[in-house]
Amino acid sequence: MKILITGGAGFIGSHVVRLFVTKYPEYQIFNLDKLTYAGNLENLRDIENASNYNFIKGDIVDAEFINSIFQQEAFDAVIHLAAESHVDRSITDPLAFVFTNVIGTVNLLNAAKEQWKGNFDGHLFYHVSTDEVYGSLGEEGMFTEETPYDPRSPYSASKASSDHFVRAYHETYGLPVKVSNCSNNYGPNHFPEKLIPLAINNIKNGKPVPVYGKGENVRDWLFVKDHATAIDAVFHKGKIGDTYNIGGVNEWKNIDLIRLLCDIMDEKTGEPQGTSQQLITFVTDRAGHDLRYAIDSSKIMHELDWKPSVTFEEGLSKTVDWYLENKEWLQHVTSGSYQDYYQTQYTR
Ligand code: NAD
Ligand code: TYD
Repeated sequence: MKILITGGAGFIGSHVVRLFVTKYPEYQIFNLDKLTYAGNLENLRDIENASNYNFIKGDIVDAEFINSIFQQEAFDAVIHLAAESHVDRSITDPLAFVFTNVIGTVNLLNAAKEQWKGNFDGHLFYHVSTDEVYGSLGEEGMFTEETPYDPRSPYSASKASSDHFVRAYHETYGLPVKVSNCSNNYGPNHFPEKLIPLAINNIKNGKPVPVYGKGENVRDWLFVKDHATAIDAVFHKGKIGDTYNIGGVNEWKNIDLIRLLCDIMDEKTGEPQGTSQQLITFVTDRAGHDLRYAIDSSKIMHELDWKPSVTFEEGLSKTVDWYLENKEWLQHVTSGSYQDYYQTQYTR
């Protein structure tokens, strides 16, 4: 089987590529990635010479290029993760999210439909999405697969649009598709513009840890390797046309999470407890900041026999160890344009 994985040089994509390359030596894995600021081939150094791994540099927005690689490689299946993925960047530049997340997805759907036309048997277009498409919850309740879409940021609006296109291609053309919507991921290789790696990096460097608003917003956190095993389960065992919610049953208020992370950092770096908490700095809130996400993962747990493998404390501890051990990775991704981004985002 030839599988195209898009966005495989990014945070989640690199863990999915590694899992598939090592667990399924009989599959040929093709990682297609534009290598934006968020894509980094250093994430895949350990498997880049595997005989079943192939890298293609390219942009999913370029329809001609996408059609040509489908014709050339005749992929059997697609796992689509390539996306612009950061809410704060979507507030500054929404159109970039429309190009990659909406047009890029439709280009891939068109190429798959054309390549597989007349015989959809044995083929699959698997679209990886987010729980943010469901909108924001109050104190109670959880997102299920039946929750109506209510995206509230340009990022989640673009992901919701791409989800709709994927389902529309199933209904209209019979394209075999699956969709999963996952909660916030954390773990190794996470670009330090997102909360957890940004906080680890800043604590490491004795810099303020910015918490938006009062830190009251709640997210459900899942260790990235557990998301990769969930994607494996949906890819192999999920029903065609179905949607699966994926989450960690692990809700945290941002401020409580940051305090826990500060304590873990103090313990690992030998600082007296309480040292890192002094770096916590409350800053201007994000515009339209969703209050709470919580996801009901009972469908994937019961139907596909999947569950998270680590507790949050274990996952965070492994994550901190990884960032402390991989200084060079952190140095490379935080040099150059990262500094400009940080200045614009946090010096207001
Ligand atoms: P990421 O930003 O770390 O990686 C995205 C990857 O896509 C990068 O390697 C980038 O180079 C590539 N890419 C971007 N634009 C491209 C284009 N036009 N053509 C080809 N490649 C392009 O993102 P991530 O956090 O790994 O998220 C992966 C997917 O999972 C996304 O679809 C995201 O919406 C979804 N998701 C993420 C989370 C999360 O917490 N990070 C949670 C649920 C779902
Ligand atoms: P983020 O990692 O950007 O993920 P998302 O917005 O997709 O949930 O942010 C997670 C939470 O942390 C969100 O409520 C915003 C908040 N946040 C901060 O408080 N400070 C920060 O510097 C960042 C990046 C996020």
